[in-house]
Amino acid sequence: MQILVIGSGGREHAVIKALKKSPKVDALYCCPGNGGIAADATCIPIKATDIEGVVAFAKEKAIDLVFVTPDDPLVMGMVDALEEAGIRAFGPRKNAAILEGSKVFSKNLMKKYGIPTAAYETFDDPQKAIAYIENFNRYPIVIKADGLALGKGVLIAGSFGEAREAVKSIMEDKAFGQSGNHIVVEEFLEGVEVSVLAFTDSKTVCPMPSSMDHKRAFDGDQGLNTGGMGTICPNPLYTPAIAQRCQKEIFEPTIAAMAKEGRPFRGVLYFGLMLTEKGPYVIEYNCRFGDPETQVILPLLKTDLVEIIEAVEKGTLSQLDIQWEDAAAACVILASGGYPQSYEKGLPISGLDAHGQADGVTIYHAGTALADGGYKTAGGRVLGVTAVAPTLREALDAAYAAAGKIDFPKKQFRTDIGAKALS
Ligand code: AMP
Ligand code: GLY
Repeated sequence: MQILVIGSGGREHAVIKALKKSPKVDALYCCPGNGGIAADATCIPIKATDIEGVVAFAKEKAIDLVFVTPDDPLVMGMVDALEEAGIRAFGPRKNAAILEGSKVFSKNLMKKYGIPTAAYETFDDPQKAIAYIENFNRYPIVIKADGLALGKGVLIAGSFGEAREAVKSIMEDKAFGQSGNHIVVEEFLEGVEVSVLAFTDSKTVCPMPSSMDHKRAFDGDQGLNTGGMGTICPNPLYTPAIAQRCQKEIFEPTIAAMAKEGRPFRGVLYFGLMLTEKGPYVIEYNCRFGDPETQVILPLLKTDLVEIIEAVEKGTLSQLDIQWEDAAAACVILASGGYPQSYEKGLPISGLDAHGQADGVTIYHAGTALADGGYKTAGGRVLGVTAVAPTLREALDAAYAAAGKIDFPKKQFRTDIGAKALS
């Protein structure tokens, strides 16, 4: 098979490395990829959101399967366009990707089908939203832009003043563009956050091992929200009893609801969960693999990823016994100084070769470019250093040891990834 992967981050690098292990794969392409991905796949300079460009390239190369990884092309309908052109694609169609593409849609779906989620109201008029918040009068309160916003469209307001500012910035100043035409205002949930990703063919839902992301830029969950500064897998706070409850109360009902709505979901569905005193609640759905969750989940996958993709396509997931390593994985993100705000690019990276080969350690490239024979920084999140080991403690130690040997000017990373899970 010739497989084309869409995207350019550490998550895509992890997908490519997993596909590379499959005996069914002859050639791997990536649009657009990055400096490090180029060592594992042929990178083609076509943007991940260029649907026409991707379809034309896939036709020209007679690509057998396109793996659409990021949210924007999925929400824009890249899978539909590929299928219309007679090209096989992995990922939900546009009418199912709306589960991530519109928070108003996903909240209304959960309400309609009794799936536990924070109490909420939706608004398209800022004055009505502000009046509702004033009347509700409980803080913190959560204000969410309806559409995609690079993971930044959720604002948590500690007071009425902050909430009013949040509504204004999303709906009037259009801080997230048209994504803020509608908003969700919802109750603040307290608890422990867990990410669970699942393969689904729209009938069967097979959860992968759970994970924990670290969204804030700095240690102790300080600083701005980022795309994710590190992950661990599995998440020890997600016990087998909670998993069973989530399967029955959240995962299966979500898949059944989407099928009933005429929007069968096929691909990877990401459940962002809050484990509260009252039980597990859904914070959000993503219609795809997470980044950097993928960098700790796929290294533990024993089953051939292509076999899973084919079972999703054929609707035979119930017949597949997906196997995972009985081990732990940790990923530490090395970011550019200043991320998630402004940062420099083009800085030389050293120490990559010596440590890529350390036992159980894999270095996933996120924002790197190959120039003058060496790797240079080319994005906010630069590298994801993952280690797999028998225990979480060992995985974290190995990931930090490897991360410590890699250097570039103004390297920024968290030193407390997984700490909450160890205590
Ligand atoms: P999202 O983009 O929907 O994942 O939200 C980003 C982050 O905001 C989540 O990871 C949570 O930490 C936080 N968050 C979102 N909704 C809520 C809520 N209802 N209560 C508490 N925290 C929330
Ligand atoms: N790490 C969170 C996400 O991929 O949305």
